[in-house]
Amino acid sequence: MKTPTFILTAAADSADLALAEVAKAQPAAEVMEMLGEGIWAGTAVPFSSLADAWQQQPPIFVRHVCPVHLTLPLTETLDVRWLAEAIGVDLAAWIDPQTPFSVQTRVLPNAPYKPYDINTAVAQSIQQMTAAPLDVRAPGQILSIVITQRAAYAGVSLAVYNLSDWAGGMRRFAREPGQISRAEFKLLEALELFRIALPPRGIALDLGAAPGGWTRILRQREQYVTAVDPAALHPSLHQDKRVRHLRLTAEMYRKQGPDHFDLIVNDMRLDARDSARLMVAFAPYLYAHGSALMTVKLPAQAQPALIEHTFDILQHAYRIAGARQLFHNRSEITLHLKP
Ligand SMILES: C[S@@+](CC[C@H](N)C(=O)[O-])C[C@H]1O[C@@H](n2cnc3c(N)ncnc32)[C@H](O)[C@@H]1O
Repeated sequence: MKTPTFILTAAADSADLALAEVAKAQPAAEVMEMLGEGIWAGTAVPFSSLADAWQQQPPIFVRHVCPVHLTLPLTETLDVRWLAEAIGVDLAAWIDPQTPFSVQTRVLPNAPYKPYDINTAVAQSIQQMTAAPLDVRAPGQILSIVITQRAAYAGVSLAVYNLSDWAGGMRRFAREPGQISRAEFKLLEALELFRIALPPRGIALDLGAAPGGWTRILRQREQYVTAVDPAALHPSLHQDKRVRHLRLTAEMYRKQGPDHFDLIVNDMRLDARDSARLMVAFAPYLYAHGSALMTVKLPAQAQPALIEHTFDILQHAYRIAGARQLFHNRSEITLHLKP
């Protein structure tokens, strides 16, 4: 096998679309091997050329990418300290001593290591060799490690080049008491990834709101919510005077003459193009400073043409400020729209 220069991660179901994004960004890139589910090693172009291209035009389906500067074959189980030492010695020179760093390790199934142990031991090893401060919350540079049964791959990059602040783009949230739906994680992840700041006591429209997970999150952030859905909301929202539930379709509400909003979110289970047309119809009711978020549902064999058509419709009223298949998206992508 050739030596990899980068490792990328995407949802396994979106492999074709993610690999097409690699080919578009760097036609010379070769994706050589699937290391694990949704993780591929690639070569033939430097990591930096791919990362630069994606800074200009971020991919939708590639969730995370990291460089490989060191490939250590693993023929036997190594002592964690030895492994950390080997990675530290080789990669310390890549670390900028002025920039806070963090170590992110992914251990693929059947490899006998624990990510936490490797992170701790490698961070110690780097700190012994450089003066760089460790900052796991807001690192400027990341030492990424992927360990399979056969090899350990490691590389250092600026955090912004990885496309996600989380190892492999796996943004996990803890379940909360009172959580209404798993869909809540999608909204939390989108607000964070697209850095959407909600105005104090903003006015939000939630299209396709039932059973009410997104509405609950918006209420936690002190938004007044108009929740539109013919289906019922969870009883925990019934008493909340700052939630107005309209048991209508979005189309019916649009005909009634909606209010004006700071934020429109749309998680409707609807054909992507129909959903986009509805978003365009609601655009006059979004304040100029506002934002919109929508999930775009994709059929099993999603074609780029469907996504392009959906974008074309939306662009009649919006700028597409962000588009990504989030860690919590299944057969869908999430868009951040600005009027
Ligand atoms: C995936 S669920 C939304 C989950 C919600 N975001 C949550 O966090 O609980 C999709 C919802 O879209 C609603 N829906 C589908 N078509 C709609 C339409 N034309 N107008 C309004 N709601 C619609 C469905 O009734 C369903 O409740």
